[in-house]
Amino acid sequence: MNALTRDLIKLVDMTEEMMKEKEQKEGADYREKLHLMPPVGWLNDPNGLCQLNGIYHAFFQYSPFNAEGGVKMWGHYTSKDMIDWEYQGVKLYPDQPFDCHGVYSGSAFIEDDKMYVYYTGNVKLEDGDFDYINTGRESNTVLVVSEDGKTFGSKKELMRNVDYPSDLTCHVRDPKVWKDGDTYYMIQGARTKEDVGQALIFESKDKINWKFRSRVESEKTFGYMWECPDYFEVDGTKILSASVQGLEGGVWDDRNVYQSGYFMVDGNILDDYKLSEYMLWDYGFDFYAPQTMETEDGRRILIGWMQSWDNPIYPDTQRWSGMMSVPRELFIRDGRICQLPVRELDNYHINEVVYKDICIEESVQLDGVSGRTVDLMIGLKGNQYTKFRIKLACDGRRYSEIVYDREKDTVTFDRTYSGLRKDTLCTRRMKVSNRAGEIKLRILIDRYSVEIFVNDGEQVMTSLIYTPLDASGIYFESNGKTILDVKKYDIEVL
Ligand code: FRU
Repeated sequence: MNALTRDLIKLVDMTEEMMKEKEQKEGADYREKLHLMPPVGWLNDPNGLCQLNGIYHAFFQYSPFNAEGGVKMWGHYTSKDMIDWEYQGVKLYPDQPFDCHGVYSGSAFIEDDKMYVYYTGNVKLEDGDFDYINTGRESNTVLVVSEDGKTFGSKKELMRNVDYPSDLTCHVRDPKVWKDGDTYYMIQGARTKEDVGQALIFESKDKINWKFRSRVESEKTFGYMWECPDYFEVDGTKILSASVQGLEGGVWDDRNVYQSGYFMVDGNILDDYKLSEYMLWDYGFDFYAPQTMETEDGRRILIGWMQSWDNPIYPDTQRWSGMMSVPRELFIRDGRICQLPVRELDNYHINEVVYKDICIEESVQLDGVSGRTVDLMIGLKGNQYTKFRIKLACDGRRYSEIVYDREKDTVTFDRTYSGLRKDTLCTRRMKVSNRAGEIKLRILIDRYSVEIFVNDGEQVMTSLIYTPLDASGIYFESNGKTILDVKKYDIEVL
């Protein structure tokens, strides 16, 4: 290890230590109870999600020195149940010539009780002939192995720009690996010189020597760059997930700048396939660059970065930015992918409050239903209303609102009055399936985040709110008779 790396490690430790001391003195009310956050500074993509010998690992893109980001390293959390996480420190520093400007995103592949971590070593070529799109960076594919999930061996550079097809720009990154038969496959996101977003597939017999095999793209050009691709099966359905940059026009004008979604894959992804239309993982403001893992008991879990590159709305005084979504179990129902919080969350439910078939005609607050760390399940019935509103994180002046429009079959999230101090977009809307006015909402509120799961996970909408914590009221409001079921739990993670 060279002297600079040693200093970097010290600096990270000191920064985290200072933050811890500050929190011990002043409290840490800004921390989510349940969601993963950086100890200090900036967090983006989840990386290297896996389960090794019973323990879950979640690494993340981390820049501890600045809430606005900076050079990326991999921070590390572990957990026995995906809910209660323990911070383990930084595991991968940008300490090699091939990753000196960032240990970028990547994945973990488990075999023979070992963790094989593949990531992109980012090197920015800022001198000389700098061209950000075509030639301005090295995107090196790197492997590093851990035998215990705690310590890592030496990094090995596997591929460089020259090893990728020559019609690509320097934007090739975010390897994810799987095995089929006796062959290993790696998928990476890419941008061609013609501005076509696509995924590349490489193959290997030994996890070390890789060669380009094929590419995956949609029939018509779909965005200019696919980040963080992932390929996996859910209940026998093949899924290609990609975080796509450069979608504009039509429906995309009403959505986030960068999208994360998936295609269902018909056929063989290696050579003869057809991609379905692209479906969003999440319709809220704050969900990007998700990655999946398979648990030892065979579940497919998705975790996303709750925020995105173009919407940091956190208060200027805040020393951190970015968090992870709740881990979500994926399953297929009626031919579509559904997502629900992992079942382990139920073990943290306390203070159950239940209301059944109550009739609401105006604005009500229900005894026992309030709070900023709650799991709220709601069922709506009836045909005498057109709009049903749930106001949460309320203090009389501030609130965020979820509106179900029974006539239009839409769910809207509105944070206009959440106490935002930035001039930014405030509403997101999604069409939901028509169930003759019967709709189910599960709303996971954790201090500054709101994840809305509609109709048992058919659709999800995730957004951040930075409303002060004393705003904890929850109100229900209807413009006609609505029959309402409510189940509410507080969530306690010690
Ligand atoms: C996605 C992404 C990845 C990249 C990483 C850098 O959010 O842009 O493509 O590896 O973030 O932090």
